[in-house]
Amino acid sequence: MTEPFTVAIDGPAAAGKGTVSRAVAAHFGFAHLDTGLLYRAVGIQVLHGVDPIDAARGLTPDGLDNPDLRSADVAQAASKVAVIPEVRAALLDFQRAFARRAGGAVLDGRDICTVIVPQAEAQLFVTASAEVRAKRRWAELQARGDDVAFDQVLADVKDRDARDSERAAAPLKPSETAHVLDTSEMTIDEAVAAAIAVVDQKRKG
Ligand code: CDP
Repeated sequence: MTEPFTVAIDGPAAAGKGTVSRAVAAHFGFAHLDTGLLYRAVGIQVLHGVDPIDAARGLTPDGLDNPDLRSADVAQAASKVAVIPEVRAALLDFQRAFARRAGGAVLDGRDICTVIVPQAEAQLFVTASAEVRAKRRWAELQARGDDVAFDQVLADVKDRDARDSERAAAPLKPSETAHVLDTSEMTIDEAVAAAIAVVDQKRKG
């Protein structure tokens, strides 16, 4: 397939969007962009004293594979820079161009269905209860060697949920056309299979 086909996946912190997105992209042979990494890349520069708007305007895709971007501190910094409209505006064109590239693309984030690609052919809102999401994130952080207490991870998840949902610029919410996938009671394999089924149906329809 050479025509653009966009799979847009939104959802709150640690809902499993990353895993689902990577698996959907691999299944269909689409490119994948974790847009949270763009905000994390701005956030980490702010932690090093750079102005957030300058950091966003100067951002390049190089270095998005830096494992430090996955830390809990950088996640909080990302959600703080993400409330700034100029930061969001600076990252818009790159995301839209990625979405419409030939051969298909999967983008995951907070505002992909609502702002970045509202015309995306397949739209999903992947969610889970705050406790389940905090458990998953805690396990990920432990595996990275970040020894954070579970209660701290749960508090961070709730804090980011509130900041991401209550901000004026592109708040986190399901688009009217998104298929809501609550993964609280699902294994990863079940969540992936459900997401692939949604995309398959859109490709055939
Ligand atoms: O992986 P996790 O779900 O914890 O977070 P992420 O997707 O890496 O996003 C980090 C932060 O960036 C979020 O808490 C949002 O504040 C922000 N973000 C956003 O505002 N818009 C996006 N499209 C993606 C992330």
